Amino acid sequence: MTKKVTKAIIPAAGLGTRFLPETKALPKEMLPIVDTPTIQFIVEEAKQAGIKDIIIVIGKGKRSIEDHFDSNPELEMNLEEKHKDKMLESIRKTNDLNIYFIRQSHPRGLGDAIYTARSFIGNEPFAVLLGDDVMEDKVPLTKQLMDSFEETGASTLAVKRVPHKDISKYGVIDPTHEVKPGLFNVKQFVEKPKPEDAPSDLAIIGRYLLTPEIFSILEETQPDAGGEIQLTTAIDTLNKTQRVFAHEFKGKRYDTGNKLSWLKTNVIFGLRHPEIATGLRSYIKQLGAELSAEDEANDADKKSK
Ligand code: UTP
Repeated sequence: MTKKVTKAIIPAAGLGTRFLPETKALPKEMLPIVDTPTIQFIVEEAKQAGIKDIIIVIGKGKRSIEDHFDSNPELEMNLEEKHKDKMLESIRKTNDLNIYFIRQSHPRGLGDAIYTARSFIGNEPFAVLLGDDVMEDKVPLTKQLMDSFEETGASTLAVKRVPHKDISKYGVIDPTHEVKPGLFNVKQFVEKPKPEDAPSDLAIIGRYLLTPEIFSILEETQPDAGGEIQLTTAIDTLNKTQRVFAHEFKGKRYDTGNKLSWLKTNVIFGLRHPEIATGLRSYIKQLGAELSAEDEANDADKKSK
């Protein structure tokens, strides 16, 4: 019988250079989506999948992540006295989880971040949820991977079709065939290929279900040209001794690790937020009208020249 998945690793120790200068002091995983830090959504996804024990890999300048998940009795008491029940609920959502922290001494890549948490995981299968990728679907993506693992007992990672021009930003799979709808047998996992070399448009996104054998492989995995130990490289090696499947995610993915995508995510979530939806909607309409008028004026200007 396959072992049950009860633990997750959330790597959040990266430098977040795409968000500098903001990330000098505030981790990108703490950037808000309206009023909630991105990493809170990730932890809630793990909780919805039934995971109780979570280890967050942190590094320099990441103390605010620890503070965010720490209980705050004074604040709770204050909100209780004022009967601010909704606010109270919002800060207690993950109080029932066991959240631990470990430091990655240098940000030597995702593979190294996972390896840092090996003693916490021990000899069990586990989930990995990247700290800056928010996923949305009826069934949480981590649960989808856990369900697949229950059936196959094999490591499985989430992939999503991306536009071909963007493929070199991702790890990519070379699928041989679909074992069942949405579940691929994989020949090779390739890290950030050039678009002309990419074996498919199925990109590895931020969720993994891994067997513990990955740790001994990570121990032997050499850093790439940029000095990073790539998880994709280790997974490709694992696939040579154990099957590793790819599960196609059909839900929505919000990558908050780059500026434009983070802003778009805020607009989408803002348009659903009960407190600000109406105001934001009318602002966007007004802005749209202003931008159209600006474009028309620019076009007329160009024609007259
Ligand atoms: P990214 O590559 O998106 O994060 O890693 P980054 O390196 O911080 O970002 P840029 O490219 O400099 O802007 C995905 C996740 O893995 C974590 C990051 O914190 C992020 O949540 N990570 C990355 C680590 O924990 N350790 C690392 O060494 C690298």
